[in-house]
Amino acid sequence: MASRSAFRLSRAVAPLVSAPRSRAIPIAARAFTNSACRFSRSDVVQETEIPVSHYSPDAKGQASSTSDHYSIPVSRESAQPTPNEPGAEDESITPLTKEVYNTMPPTMQRMSMMDKVVIVTGGARGLGNHMARACAEAGAKTLVIFDANQDLGDASAAELHAKTGLEVIFYKVDVRQGSAINAAVDAVTQRYGAPDVLINSAGIADSNIKAENYGSEMFRRLIDINLTGSFLMAQSVGKAMMKANKPGSIVLVASMSGSIVNYPQEQSCYNASKAGVIQFGKSLAAEWAKYGIRVNCISPGYMDTALNRVPALEAQKKIWCSLTPQNRLGAVDDLNGLAVFLGSDASAFMTGSNVIIDGGYTCY
Ligand SMILES: NC(=O)c1ccc[n+]([C@@H]2O[C@H](COP(=O)([O-])OP(=O)(O)OC[C@H]3O[C@@H](n4cnc5c(N)ncnc54)[C@H](O)[C@@H]3O)[C@@H](O)[C@H]2O)c1
Repeated sequence: MASRSAFRLSRAVAPLVSAPRSRAIPIAARAFTNSACRFSRSDVVQETEIPVSHYSPDAKGQASSTSDHYSIPVSRESAQPTPNEPGAEDESITPLTKEVYNTMPPTMQRMSMMDKVVIVTGGARGLGNHMARACAEAGAKTLVIFDANQDLGDASAAELHAKTGLEVIFYKVDVRQGSAINAAVDAVTQRYGAPDVLINSAGIADSNIKAENYGSEMFRRLIDINLTGSFLMAQSVGKAMMKANKPGSIVLVASMSGSIVNYPQEQSCYNASKAGVIQFGKSLAAEWAKYGIRVNCISPGYMDTALNRVPALEAQKKIWCSLTPQNRLGAVDDLNGLAVFLGSDASAFMTGSNVIIDGGYTCY
């Protein structure tokens, strides 16, 4: 674990969002990238089978200590993740039970995820992992994690199952790999029916790199994960919803960087990738309203995730906070309520929206 941390701190870092202009800051002279810490430079994603880790309740509906590990085949095309730290393991999760749900007033029932099958990409850690926890607390029937990081994905699924007793299934899927996504979504659909909700949180950030120095391969890779990944996931899940004639909600995690330009760090390419996600989400919302499929974006401001918890970013973080009316970074669970709302029937008339959740950063 110590060596993983050392690796993370020495190789990488990166804020996923921004701050306005002013004086030079100490780290501006070097480039940081968080994406390099988790994956090889290779853009090629080729996997012939998807490892699956399956945690089911026992016959009494209690969390079981055993799990199934198997693979599902992929016709062709993965990533080589490096391990990273698990999410906050000491936090408890209280799943919403049917008994409690039945006592809730209608407004609160509509605000829940009762009985929904939810896929969360990037759910192995960070914001995605916490939104998955929130879905359990909001009544989700089954949690499905898609993530490219085998170790973290497996650990997070085991933890979610142990803490909730819910059925949790992890598919090692890289969001750049359409065939793997389709195979995994098909497997989910066969087992549980078409998904009700997709929360697409998988993404990377390259930051503090001047546009004139940013390599075209890096640019392609960033777009491939952040934008193409959003497209491939939405397409696959949307088709499953359409085929089942089932209304659904797709939530794409973009960034405030898709609407504003970050300062002081230079990250034009990341910003472009997230602007693409926002416009894609709006366009998809218009196209798929006729199928009862809603598509909305969450655009976070600066969040206090592992990515930003590095000494090299301390100077920038002070600037970010000073430019945020709430004077803080977002907590790792600050997106939870919004994610549940957008996935729930409480937001039934909401589609094509991009909700910025940034502690007021974009007010200035
Ligand atoms: N943290 C912030 O300040 C912030 C701000 C705005 C937007 N965002 C966005 O929120 C999302 C989550 O950010 P986070 O801070 O939780 O990051 P994180 O790095 O903690 O988590 C991202 C997860 O996505 C997975 N992932 C990365 N590439 C993948 C791929 N190709 N296929 C499948 N899984 C992949 C990682 O393994 C990881 O589990 C990202 O889309 C990010 O751009 C974050």
